[in-house]
Amino acid sequence: LHRIILDCDPGVDDAVAILLALAAPQAISLAGITTVAGNVSASLTEYNARRICTLANRHDIPVFAGCPRPMRDPHGYHTQVHGHDGLGGVPIPEPGFAVQRQHAVDFIIETVNAEPGNITLCAIGPLTNIALALIKDPGIAGKIKQLVLMGGAAFCPGNVSPAAEFNFYVDPWAAHVVLSAGIPQVMFGLDVTSQARMDAAWLDALHQRSAAGAAMAAMMRSYGAADPCLHDPCVIAWLIDPTLFSGIDGHISIITDGSTAGHALAAVKTRHLAGRAPNTHIMTGVDTPRLLALLAEHLAVY
Ligand code: BDR
Ligand code: CA
Repeated sequence: LHRIILDCDPGVDDAVAILLALAAPQAISLAGITTVAGNVSASLTEYNARRICTLANRHDIPVFAGCPRPMRDPHGYHTQVHGHDGLGGVPIPEPGFAVQRQHAVDFIIETVNAEPGNITLCAIGPLTNIALALIKDPGIAGKIKQLVLMGGAAFCPGNVSPAAEFNFYVDPWAAHVVLSAGIPQVMFGLDVTSQARMDAAWLDALHQRSAAGAAMAAMMRSYGAADPCLHDPCVIAWLIDPTLFSGIDGHISIITDGSTAGHALAAVKTRHLAGRAPNTHIMTGVDTPRLLALLAEHLAVY
């Protein structure tokens, strides 16, 4: 059983990741959801996380609001891909419960310290909250079981700039702090997530299942018009069934400045590693039909 904190910026594919995590109690125990500015503003990502838990009838999930801007850029950078509200403008219930009073960064620190060696951090938005937690309490780095993140594009073009994927582009300094902290880490970049494409038949089947299924399909259709990939759910799917994915070990360093800011520079050949040990398991492949089947099977509970 994976005991996780899910750090996210919902976001349609974040919403699917939350729903998948809540639908897999045999594999995942969710300690809490932390939210960060990314796809949309921090106030919207927090609100959306609670709307999604409410859609899943899970008013018991604690949601903690986090950082409203990246480490260095005071304004941040949002995307239109997820619609004006972050969930494709689809009618989803109002939140049925309140946000927690504790800040996301403090919740991460407190939980990792309370359960040393036990917490898997799942990060599917910009890494601001996790970077700030590591800066506030560097001791947590050695107590995190593993970091499983969606971000980066090691061997393929980015989706915001030629060099950078959105989550790393938004806060490259946070990505640098987090990925160089020495935490055992698994990176789901565009290398693998761009293979996780939804298709029309899969969406139609989801739509027909239930009211919640129809809402999910509508969200994904609106977003899929611009980006048909289920990026963030890959992180959760790997916890449920790691045999869906394949990857290689390498050393990732983050470019923080200039026209390639946010690039995940991957050293995988002995010569490129130049004596450094690999610090990241870089995912590169997924069995897409089996991934879509796993998602359909789990999302059927809604
Ligand atoms: C990532 O950026 C966001 O738009 C998605 O939610 C995902 O986390 C993909 O580049
Ligand atoms: Ca996301």
